[in-house]
Amino acid sequence: MASYGNFNEYFDITWGDGRAKILNNGELLTLSLDKASGSGFESKNEYLFGNIDMQLKLVPGNSAGTVTTYYLRSQGSTWDEIDFEFLGNLSGDPYILHTNVYSQGYGKREQEFYLWFDPTADFHTYSILWNPQLIIFSVDGTPIREYKNSESIGVPFPENQPMRITSSIWNADDWATRGGRVKTDWTQAPFTASYTNFKADACVWSNGASSCFSNSTWWFSHELDSTSKEKLKWVQNNYMIYNYCTDPKRFPQGLPLECNNS
Ligand SMILES: *[C@@H]1O[C@H](CO)[C@@H](O)[C@H](O)[C@H]1NC(C)=O
Repeated sequence: MASYGNFNEYFDITWGDGRAKILNNGELLTLSLDKASGSGFESKNEYLFGNIDMQLKLVPGNSAGTVTTYYLRSQGSTWDEIDFEFLGNLSGDPYILHTNVYSQGYGKREQEFYLWFDPTADFHTYSILWNPQLIIFSVDGTPIREYKNSESIGVPFPENQPMRITSSIWNADDWATRGGRVKTDWTQAPFTASYTNFKADACVWSNGASSCFSNSTWWFSHELDSTSKEKLKWVQNNYMIYNYCTDPKRFPQGLPLECNNS
């Protein structure tokens, strides 16, 4: 009962004045960025928990200064958010995959990674599994980050606010590449990222209630098994380049509480 993604059916283009395009009868979506504007799209549905897959092929060549985002976000000033952001780079230099989790408007929970493949050469699957116990970020089925519910020690967890799937491409050359030292080369524009094979095995929110497909909720109580934990460790040992939980300088009052729960 999962919804396999026709982009026309599940998404609206929200900005970019023609720079976002749905192609091939809804099977492909492209977002582009030029000097005048980026572009973006958003799901028609709001979701409360789910396992959501999307395949992305990132801007090839010199993508320095560009940021492609793919995330879940709720409304309002105390929003929840689960983020993938892809920070571009000069040709041949690695993208950074930046992740973050916000609950009730508070984020500062970044982990960043290099990838073990060229994310511009082919489509790869980026997944968010979100259930009441945890959030798992995966790439091609390999978990790269696990964020556990730490409510029992006083850390709010995203669990009450339905979220939309949102994506955009924009210019962030003030910070994205080598901390902002490499600027966007506009002679290379437009910069285009592509999306396909969206799949939401998720609970859809409507009229104040959430409806899940009971046969397909394997993910609702999912936890990492020992094989997946080994894979997670492999990624974290070899590809993780930043973890807020190992950055005490940033938190002079002490590391965030949830850092003790991982
Ligand atoms: C870009 O490449 C440089 C050099 O390899 C690297 O230090 C940096 O982390 C890469 N990624 C970004 C987004 O700056």
